[in-house]
Amino acid sequence: MENRTRRLRSSDTLRRMTRETRLSADSLIYPFFIREGKGIAEDLPSLPGQTRYSPDTLARGIEEALKAGVRSFILFGIPESKDEIGSGAFDENGVIQQALINAKKEFGDDAYLITDVCLCEYTSHGHCGLLAGNQVDNDSTLPLLAKTTLSHVRAGSQMVAPSGMMDGMVEAMRAALDAEGLVGIPIMSYAAKYASAFYGPFRDAAGSAPQFGDRKTYQMDYHNWREALKRIQADIDEGADIIIVKPALPCLDIIAKARGQIQLPVAAYSVSGEYAMIKAAAASGLIDEYKVMCESSVGIFRAGADILITYFAKELAEAIRKGDVG
Ligand code: PBG
Repeated sequence: MENRTRRLRSSDTLRRMTRETRLSADSLIYPFFIREGKGIAEDLPSLPGQTRYSPDTLARGIEEALKAGVRSFILFGIPESKDEIGSGAFDENGVIQQALINAKKEFGDDAYLITDVCLCEYTSHGHCGLLAGNQVDNDSTLPLLAKTTLSHVRAGSQMVAPSGMMDGMVEAMRAALDAEGLVGIPIMSYAAKYASAFYGPFRDAAGSAPQFGDRKTYQMDYHNWREALKRIQADIDEGADIIIVKPALPCLDIIAKARGQIQLPVAAYSVSGEYAMIKAAAASGLIDEYKVMCESSVGIFRAGADILITYFAKELAEAIRKGDVG
């Protein structure tokens, strides 16, 4: 019996041949933060190695990523000024709209542009929806998400990703797109998004921390898994084309359960805190950044993800190219 478990490990070629999980740079999505202004390309202290661009410099970031083999991007906008209703989100001349127009002009179909649709970066109070008193008002938020969707797509967004966890957001966006004849634009919904402490560095980078309270009334409690499946199903019923589980590493069970239960592509968002944690531990010499990046990314795919949204996209694409991951 001795070699029963070892035979398939007896050579590097055989180990590679029998790998159960395969990665491809085609499955990666790289996030970009874009702030209003000109000529800006600034380091993000909360996300070491990541850069915040202005609409006119974004092309540099996209160019680098394309060189690494990453072709899909999700864009987050940071407006110069915010207001109660987040009107910068659907401003024709808004930061995301400018970035989309520029990127489209520069790269055409070589770059696949996805936009995050949420109000939190644009509202003065930092919540993902409109307020009624101190509460987020779900239903009055929906028309604004629909409006934001259309303005993104008109500027060149090829896929919209609602992240605000409002009930009915997918349906509202689908209806708006269809009414304009934009039936071919897919919706990738943040269907299972937990109220997570792992979003800290993102909120720093996007300036989107809530000014009071938290997001626990609309994001999910991490004690729950059935709720995640229910919300995923609800988004599918509303017309979602891809569903996102977020964060990734603390939610591998949710990714696996979603994969087992639904027929649509499952995307995992390995969020800012997951990235920052690896970076910080590596910077203090506690772990090997490259190896931990490889292992944790493969783990997310092994759990069942089809798509990975990650700040490590470029490095991971490189690791795939070199054959360090399958
Ligand atoms: C906006 C949004 C957030 C993230 C993606 N879209 C922040 C939040 O919900 O607070 C987090 C991404 C990350 O941490 O990398 N709603």
